[in-house]
Order: sequence, then structure tokens, then C-alpha cells
Amino acid sequence: MTRDTQDTLTKFGLTGDDRQRLVKAGKLVEPILDDALEFFYAFAKSDPEIAQFFPNESTMAHARAAQKVHWQKLMSGSFNEEYLASAQRVGTVHFNIQLPFSMYLSGYGRASEYIQKRVLERSGALVGKFARRRV
Ligand code: HEM
Repeated sequence: MTRDTQDTLTKFGLTGDDRQRLVKAGKLVEPILDDALEFFYAFAKSDPEIAQFFPNESTMAHARAAQKVHWQKLMSGSFNEEYLASAQRVGTVHFNIQLPFSMYLSGYGRASEYIQKRVLERSGALVGKFARRRV
């Protein structure tokens, strides 16, 4: 791992044994990844501003399959050349279609929120109002 990558991970607070924990968490996420993508694309389709970035079903299917692989790479915990190239490509592709960064982040945030809720629900850790809001 290059010095730059290490610095970036530190900025995200990914230090110590966090990468091992990420891999462990990834094993819980893998079985619900398709559900998370289903949730993500239901959201994307429901928002007219976001939906317009998908001109047809095949673009959406390609983006969905590619996004799944990208999440899997992230959860492998290997921030290697392959992961960095994938992240660079994700950035380039969304820049090329002129997707506003706020929209990209909203999608990322929703997918992350969905994943965290499902994992926490499974562990029985959700209490209060979040426990009642099933996703
Ligand atoms: C609401 C936000 C988003 C929209 C509207 C969007 C839209 C798109 C579109 C239109 C493509 C091009 C598909 C094609 O040309 O066939 C694409 C590709 C892709 N998107 Fe997104 N995207 C969003 C968020 C995300 C997020 C959050 C991730 C992952 C964390 C992601 C991962 C990818 C990947 C991996 C590709 C394929 C890049 C490649 O061609 O290699 N996208 N996206």
C-alpha cells in the first residue's frame, strides 16, 4: 500500500485492525448485498432527477452489476491497485455523465444506511424508533 493510500485511510479513520473488522463485517453484508442494490435502485427510479441518469434498463443493469462488484472490492479490505483503479473509474464514469456529487453521495448514503440497518437488525442491536422501522 502506498503512503498516499495509507494517509487517505487514516483520514477516513480506518486504522489499526479496522480493515480486519471490515472484512468480518463484509461477511454479514454479502448475503444482503442484492437487497441493498434493490433498495438503491428503487430509490434511484423513484427520484425523477436521479432516474434521468439511466437512459434505459441495460445501462441500469450494467451500473448495478458493476456497483455490486465495487462494494465487494471495498469489503475485501484490500485497498490495493485494483480497488484504487475501480474507485478511480467510478469517479470518472460519474463525472462523465455529469452526475452531481450530492446525488452520488445521497445514493451512497442510502445504500450504506440500508446495509447498516440490516446488519444491526440481525445482531439485535437496534433499539427504540429504529427497531420499529423495518427496511
Ligand atoms: C444516485 C447515484 C448514482 C447514479 C445516478 C449512478 C448512475 C450510474 C450510471 C448512469 C452509470 C453508467 C452505466 C453505463 O454506462 O452502463 C454508472 C456506473 C457505475 N456506477 Fe453509478 N450511479 C450512482 C451511484 C453510485 C454509487 C453510490 C456507486 C458505488 C458505490 C456506483 C457505482 C458504479 C459503478 C461501479 C459503475 C460502473 C463503472 C464502469 O463502467 O466501470 N454508482 N452509475
